[in-house]
Amino acid sequence: MQQAYTASSSIINLNNGGVSPSPIIVQEAMKRYHDLSNEAPSYYMWRQLDMGREPLRKRLAEVAGVDPEEIALHRNATESLETIIFGLKLKAGDEIILSKYDYPNMINAWKQREERDGIKLVWADPELPSTDDTYLAQTYIDLMNGRTKLVHITHIINWNGQILPVRTIADAAQAKGIEVLVDGAHSFAHFQYKIPDLNCHYFGTSLHKWLSASIGTGMMYVRKDKIASLYPLFGSEPASKNDIRKYEALGTRPFFIEQATQKAIDFFEMIGAERKEKRLFYLKEYWTEQVRDIPELNMLSPINPEHSCAIATISFNDRKHDELESFLMDQARIHTVGINWHRIQGVRVTPNVYTSTKNLDRLVEAIHSFAKK
Ligand SMILES: Cc1ncc(COP(=O)(O)O)c(C=O)c1O
Repeated sequence: MQQAYTASSSIINLNNGGVSPSPIIVQEAMKRYHDLSNEAPSYYMWRQLDMGREPLRKRLAEVAGVDPEEIALHRNATESLETIIFGLKLKAGDEIILSKYDYPNMINAWKQREERDGIKLVWADPELPSTDDTYLAQTYIDLMNGRTKLVHITHIINWNGQILPVRTIADAAQAKGIEVLVDGAHSFAHFQYKIPDLNCHYFGTSLHKWLSASIGTGMMYVRKDKIASLYPLFGSEPASKNDIRKYEALGTRPFFIEQATQKAIDFFEMIGAERKEKRLFYLKEYWTEQVRDIPELNMLSPINPEHSCAIATISFNDRKHDELESFLMDQARIHTVGINWHRIQGVRVTPNVYTSTKNLDRLVEAIHSFAKK
């Protein structure tokens, strides 16, 4: 698995949560398609590579457990989720439930709708981490009322890897006629589930995170009965068309990046979703259980398999969040990411399938050295 990637030999990359590298087969396909495109762009891109879009839609739909007619191909999660946020028909006074821990791009898109259309944003603000699904779900459910039109749920909170009980929140919303949008940027191809398990109407994800597809790939899901009423972000004729392809009127774009996704799916299926989830959880468990007992260390993430997988965020009492991040890079050449968002201040560590336990031994040793400093 390690040899399937081209991981840097000069740093240990433990920020796979930001964006994942692609395995060699994906990199090579992307380069091959790129070279081909430049031999005669309009011929190879539009007449050859673009023919791969429908088969790709079908394969992604299989991974997601939905109908291909509900899948659109985009360039990242932001594009997919903002297509939905800006495409919904909302009027002044309509209420949207979201959380203080949602991703900033999505929060900003909702704020723009608030400013332009007079919708009202209502904020869930759970105490994290939590392993209490009833509590977590209730922080959303308590905010639902007759004016609520949609609830926006981030499946895995990127700041600390917290998995939210999407299904419980979605069931309560659907029972009240409220629509559900899931930000699955961090959950898709990370741990096992299918989109219908979430009972949502809309879903957006990056494919360059956990699927390890080329950088610049994303996927949108819109439940079939919602396509006609959701506007596309880029004009398409007619906007009310009941065809998922209306969300793909993006103009000329790097088809070579999109098409290499086929190889990422091959790679993902070769590992197997169950094995991948188990390995990612194991790697997180491997390093966290060796540092958890440090007295000044705070674990800012849940560590049980129901509420976490690969991602964990830690902090130290009385030390600034970026002090540990700098120490890990300067002393051990380990790349992580400092988190400073709402009530979460710490360092987020995210291994991937190519991370070795030897890499993590170095992380553990560096954290212990930091504690003694
Ligand atoms: C929860 C969440 N949503 C959305 C995004 C945006 O993803 P992208 O940069 O692929 O658009 C991220 C990126 O880290 C994320 O963590």
